[in-house]
Amino acid sequence: MVTAIEQRYIDMHPGSAERHATAKGLFPDGVTHDTRRLSPFPIYATHGLGPHKWDVDGNRLIDYYTGHGSLILGHSHPDVVAAVTEQMKRGTHLSASTDLEIQWGQAIRDLIPCAEKVRFHSSGTEATLMAFRLVRAYTGKKKIIKFVDHFHGWHDYAMAGNAVLGGIPEEVLNTMIVLPPNDISLVEKTLAEDADIAAIILEPTGAHMGNHAVTAEFVSGLRDVTERYGVVLIFDEVVTGFRVSKGGAQEYYGITPDMCTMAKILGGGLPGGAVAGRADIINMIEMTGDPAHDQHRRVQHNGTFNANPLSASAGITALGLVKNTPVNDTANAMASRLKAGLNDMLSRNEVPGCASGIASSIFLRLGVDHECDHEVCILSPEETAIIDNPARRTQMELAMMNHGVHSGTRFMVMAVHTEDDIDQTIEAAERAVNDVRNQGML
Ligand SMILES: Cc1ncc(COP(=O)(O)O)c(C=O)c1O
Repeated sequence: MVTAIEQRYIDMHPGSAERHATAKGLFPDGVTHDTRRLSPFPIYATHGLGPHKWDVDGNRLIDYYTGHGSLILGHSHPDVVAAVTEQMKRGTHLSASTDLEIQWGQAIRDLIPCAEKVRFHSSGTEATLMAFRLVRAYTGKKKIIKFVDHFHGWHDYAMAGNAVLGGIPEEVLNTMIVLPPNDISLVEKTLAEDADIAAIILEPTGAHMGNHAVTAEFVSGLRDVTERYGVVLIFDEVVTGFRVSKGGAQEYYGITPDMCTMAKILGGGLPGGAVAGRADIINMIEMTGDPAHDQHRRVQHNGTFNANPLSASAGITALGLVKNTPVNDTANAMASRLKAGLNDMLSRNEVPGCASGIASSIFLRLGVDHECDHEVCILSPEETAIIDNPARRTQMELAMMNHGVHSGTRFMVMAVHTEDDIDQTIEAAERAVNDVRNQGML
């Protein structure tokens, strides 16, 4: 049965429905990224500018998906457009080293505390894959600890602990240890009992871009135990880098990991990734002249589009703006306004839930009254299961789009969202919450 929310969505999006019918014959599920699946069909977008984007049916949306978190400067920021346009005329791939890669690497080193050395990739998935290989080569140990639900891309090792594991060999998964977050004694016990652990990786503000939060005490506990056990600590800063603060989660917490991985904002809206960290670890890629090392321990790394000039020019521009202008402060201020407005809206409408999150990442949790300081919201597995109800999430996402907002229940706020955008978003959320409630789902 089609719900009232779905019917309105179908009526508003005939062009997207038509395109999806074609796309289903072309791509699995009709999409090119698993999280773009949406029932009855996803929207097809035409263009974006600043905080907004438009779909093929002419609907304008206030965007909080924001290039899957890569666009803190907004769509088509004029400085990024100018830099990329200029570079386009000078060549997109010169099969050679460039000044641009030096500037991009230096921009990372200027901002990210752990970055003694850097290596570029084309995505966050590649960056964590390389981080794993580097720590294994460096320590001579095989296993890596990650945490339940923490996402580090889609390569075989990173998927450990996931529910969907088709095509991944058991042998690969056996090299990964998946632990619940926020239990430092369990981490220490695991390190004490297994001498074959090379590294610990985490999303430093919590799983799903910070949605399932970790405490600051847990993160500092990880720094402490990894130092004591001689294990490498990796912050996956693909989302948090240049967002949670100019220097990422490591600067926000004042905790320097041994390595970090980056992507998203790093590439200024174009594909890009990097691993950075202690020189002795990143230098496992370097030729030493010692044949035993170079042939058997060294890490090889190729990649046609590593540090390509277009991504580099966008990335240099984006990181320059992050460094020299109040990009993070502005996005954070808009996120605080959104968070306060959503919490007020929930209490006015007597809807159980909260809006919480740090910096410019805000999460709307519906369905359960719970203890929460609106920053780091730690939920029980039972509460999480109620909040993550997939049917309600889908209805909420469709309802938000019906009211002009692309977000669902996660808001990656950008420096170009205005107070007006935020106030319209809160109004849209109020309507959407009531639509969902009218369907008996809240
Ligand atoms: C924390 C984290 N790590 C890694 C990745 C993978 O990055 P990419 O999609 O660029 O491969 C993502 C993607 O969302 C992510 O959120």
